[in-house]
Amino acid sequence: KKVVLAYSGGLDTTTIIPWLKENYDYEIIAVCVNVGQGIDELDNLEAKAIQSGASKVYVKDVVEEFIESYIWPTLKANAIYENQYLLGTCMARPLIAKVLVDIAELEGAEAICHGATGKGNDQVRFELAIKALNPDLKIVAPWRLWDIKSREDAIEYCHARGINLPFTAEQSYSRDKNIWHLSHEGLEIEDPTMETDYKKILKMSNVPEDAPDTPEYLTIDFEAGIPVKVNGVSMNALEIMETLNKIGGTHAIGTVDLIENRIVGMKSRGIYETPGGTLLYKAHEALEHICLDRDTYSFKSIVAEKFADLLYNGQWFSPLREALSQFVDSTQETVTGSVKMKLYKGNCTLAGTTSAYALYNASISSFTTGDLYNHHDAEGFINLYGLPMTVRALMKRAEGEV
Ligand code: ARG
Ligand code: SIN
Repeated sequence: KKVVLAYSGGLDTTTIIPWLKENYDYEIIAVCVNVGQGIDELDNLEAKAIQSGASKVYVKDVVEEFIESYIWPTLKANAIYENQYLLGTCMARPLIAKVLVDIAELEGAEAICHGATGKGNDQVRFELAIKALNPDLKIVAPWRLWDIKSREDAIEYCHARGINLPFTAEQSYSRDKNIWHLSHEGLEIEDPTMETDYKKILKMSNVPEDAPDTPEYLTIDFEAGIPVKVNGVSMNALEIMETLNKIGGTHAIGTVDLIENRIVGMKSRGIYETPGGTLLYKAHEALEHICLDRDTYSFKSIVAEKFADLLYNGQWFSPLREALSQFVDSTQETVTGSVKMKLYKGNCTLAGTTSAYALYNASISSFTTGDLYNHHDAEGFINLYGLPMTVRALMKRAEGEV
């Protein structure tokens, strides 16, 4: 019997290997899904997993698929959770689950095991995605079952089974990194009355105090809602993300301190770094303001909120999310153009938006009168548009006289 384990190389998922062997007698297929968490985390992974008792290791690079099929659709939707969170972890979970399911099917495994805790969102996201993709697979979630409570416990558990990897007992933040973002939770972040020591915590981004003293201009070009060029240079999806993360990080763009509502009912506090993603959202939004008509824009904002909730709640593989994506894609047909921004010490201000599909028409919008708009038409328009107000005011007056 085989189990596919979502393996990161960290202490938790390493400890799971001997635990699974003892409690389930499973042959363990360790799977590390690369969504852009960085080389050092992926380093030496195969050796570590085998040393811990796995019989086979897969390292799957899906960064491009992650950006093109998960990040871009979310960017196009303008989805943001609770007004601030750019959904970095939420977008990666369904793809990681998809890779786990594919390998489980290939290997004929009967179960999938993940290292998410019983208090968080990630367990819900992994498991809903697995159910959607293959309902026959069993799920094992050790954090909901075992007695291990601390890093010390985990290290001791491994040592007792002859696994001596260089893990330290020192507590660290609960972090989740991919090409889109880096999240930090736990330790002193859990006290919401305390200011965050960003200089200590941030890894992708500068603090504003350390950002360059001279502003930098940046141009991003979009085609049908998807970024295709940075500063006039055509780039593939990965190059775009890497370039923008670097520029955004340098200028301290996109750091968020948020107390959010988890699916499981509690509130939690997270520090999020999304430097490149924040630049993309800002630029994409500017282009939508110039390219979308009023009704589409306002309806799309409703869709964005629902899209964000579905994603946060682990419902990526759902009929509604898929249908909303089709709606979003249809709105993006004319979201093509170029957005220039000025970056300076944590701020990103617009410095000019250009689109061949702009609905903005200077000769109509301008305060200097043009031919297409006749001021006199406004009077009749307001009379009819305001008719309900007039009628109600007359009613209230009559009522007062009774
Ligand atoms: N609170 C964020 C979310 O639910 C980040 C979760 C990070 N996950 C982790 N395993 N460290 O999407
Ligand atoms: C976890 O609990 O495993 C991480 C945090 C979360 O899923 O919300």
